Amino acid sequence: MMLFLDTAETDVIAERASTGLVDGVTTNPSLAAKAGGDFFEGLKAICETIDGPISAEVIATDAHNMIAEGKKLRAIHDNIVVKLPLTFEGLKACRALTDDGHPTNVTLCFSVAQALMAAKAGATFVSPFIGRLDDQGEDGLGLIEDIRMLYDEHGFATYILAASIRSMEHVEGSALAGADACTIPPKIFDAMIQHDLTDNGLDAFLKDWANAGKGAL
Ligand code: E4P
Repeated sequence: MMLFLDTAETDVIAERASTGLVDGVTTNPSLAAKAGGDFFEGLKAICETIDGPISAEVIATDAHNMIAEGKKLRAIHDNIVVKLPLTFEGLKACRALTDDGHPTNVTLCFSVAQALMAAKAGATFVSPFIGRLDDQGEDGLGLIEDIRMLYDEHGFATYILAASIRSMEHVEGSALAGADACTIPPKIFDAMIQHDLTDNGLDAFLKDWANAGKGAL
């Protein structure tokens, strides 16, 4: 399973990249605005840090300009994945960019029907937004399960990229439901490594070692 970081902050990405656990990055206009600085320079820096799919979203809302922006983004680095909204125009752009050999991530997916359309448009990734569905009382993880069933049943190659992650349970649930990738906010990425029993156990081991008068190996 691929683990991506859901942020556009280059220093935050670089710190976690040192673990070797980051397979890619997703950004969106809100995350890029929060990160500040030059959008294109920021994406270039991310591509130089992580050797994997880096999603960069278009701003245009019509297919013609989405395609133009997508090509501009792709010119930054070969690892850029063009992120397109799951709209009529977004799917038109997805089909055109796919046919032209560009990887795509169709985002803002909230239903099985939308996931079907994204796969039919040749999307490399589809991003179902789990957290935003849960926020309005729906079952985000259930959507991942359903899309997995749909894609397996019909042999679609589109990768399911679980997005809008709010908790560690969302990552665990996405993994168990068969998502191919999950994009994780940095705080949750860090929390996935930490456990109180690990910390307490390690403290006790090191105290016992030191109490026995032993030093570095
Ligand atoms: C990533 O591709 C999405 O843009 C992101 O996960 C959305 O998360 P949010 O619902 O927390 O804004």
